[in-house]
Amino acid sequence: MKKVMLVFGTRPEAIKMCPLVNELKKRKELQTVVCVTGQHREMLHQVLNIFKVVPDYDLDIMKDKQSLFDVTINILEKIKAVLEKEKPDIVLVHGDTTTTYVSALACFYLHIPVGHVEAGLRTYNLDSPYPEEFNRQSVSILSQFNFAPTNLAKQNLINEQKDVSKIYVTGNTVIDALKTTIRDDYKNEYLEWAKDSRLILLTAHRRENLGLPMHHMFKAIRKIVDEFPDVKIIYPIHMNPLVRQIADEELGGNEKIKIIEPLEVIDFHNFMARSYLILTDSGGIQEEAPSLGKPVLVMRDTTERPEGVKAGTLKLVGTSEDKIYNTFKLLLENKEEYEKMSKATNPYGDGTACKQIADILIKNL
Ligand code: UD1
Ligand code: UDP
Repeated sequence: MKKVMLVFGTRPEAIKMCPLVNELKKRKELQTVVCVTGQHREMLHQVLNIFKVVPDYDLDIMKDKQSLFDVTINILEKIKAVLEKEKPDIVLVHGDTTTTYVSALACFYLHIPVGHVEAGLRTYNLDSPYPEEFNRQSVSILSQFNFAPTNLAKQNLINEQKDVSKIYVTGNTVIDALKTTIRDDYKNEYLEWAKDSRLILLTAHRRENLGLPMHHMFKAIRKIVDEFPDVKIIYPIHMNPLVRQIADEELGGNEKIKIIEPLEVIDFHNFMARSYLILTDSGGIQEEAPSLGKPVLVMRDTTERPEGVKAGTLKLVGTSEDKIYNTFKLLLENKEEYEKMSKATNPYGDGTACKQIADILIKNL
């Protein structure tokens, strides 16, 4: 029997890997082992609980205000013993975090094959997103199996001379997750609070936005809230203390803005489904919003998800205060512009990515 180990460590990796863990565990042909690095702690465990995934190993590396050095060194040091003990036939990593990159590097050092889930996303700008663009490009150099969410991602890998027979277009596993979370009868006290207003859902955490860009983003949002009486904001805030400090300075003490703790993924998806507009610098939310038909202003200079921009649901607005303010205002005032962006499309597959990945592994390992 072939042994598959999945390694992940942050909230978005967990949301996209837990459905795969549960699918692989159903397959008798495979033995499935789960190792979490604990790059995130509370935000990771929130997801593990929802999907009822109990890790076999938890490297538990998170430190407050951790640097890229902390994360890299601590994972590399601790994962070696796990890989040497388990000797997996393949290790699956996801996306582009430091957990992803360092786990793949450790496998390379030990000659263990790597399968990359969500492979082929690119901006070709190493500063944006930082350090994620480096992480994902590096993993593509050494991965043996590449599970690309879209044809465009596949094409990026082909352009980089990856062996086409090792690239599989499966859709994104986030759609598998999304299929199980949206509920028509969903109720929540925060949604009650916002029910007579236009609800704006906000998230922000990117490393390259910490500091001035984030101040600018929040200033623009605050201005809109002050000008439009029928707008309310819910901001489930990331646990990074650096983010919390800026949010508190720029958005704190306003009765139309609720800054709340990170939501469980079921709640977050249902909040998305009921919001008027989403403002974010997140990656995963850019994949979920198109299938819900929710317009997103992406507060970043680049995106590795051009599929959503092409579909019309996503607009890149960067981090300048003026640009965010003007575009946000336009979407509140101009119905036609808003409707152009709120059509549901789904570039990320039919929600069978996990099944496809399991089948491919059984056939090819
Ligand atoms: C990480 C990933 C980023 C991903 C994001 C998803 C890297 C370099 N960055 O960024 O690609 O988009 O996760 O959210 O891999 N913290 C807690 N509890 C938690 C999680 C975080 O307290 O459960 C705090 C800690 O103080 C920690 C800080 O947040 O030091 C930053 O966490 P870190 O994983 O380094 O960076 P993220 O910005 O979360
Ligand atoms: N999410 C969540 N609770 C929240 C905010 C986001 O469950 O309070 C989910 C969201 O649906 C998406 C993922 O977290 O699936 C995005 O994670 P994040 O923005 O932290 O990371 P990124 O996608 O930018 O790497």
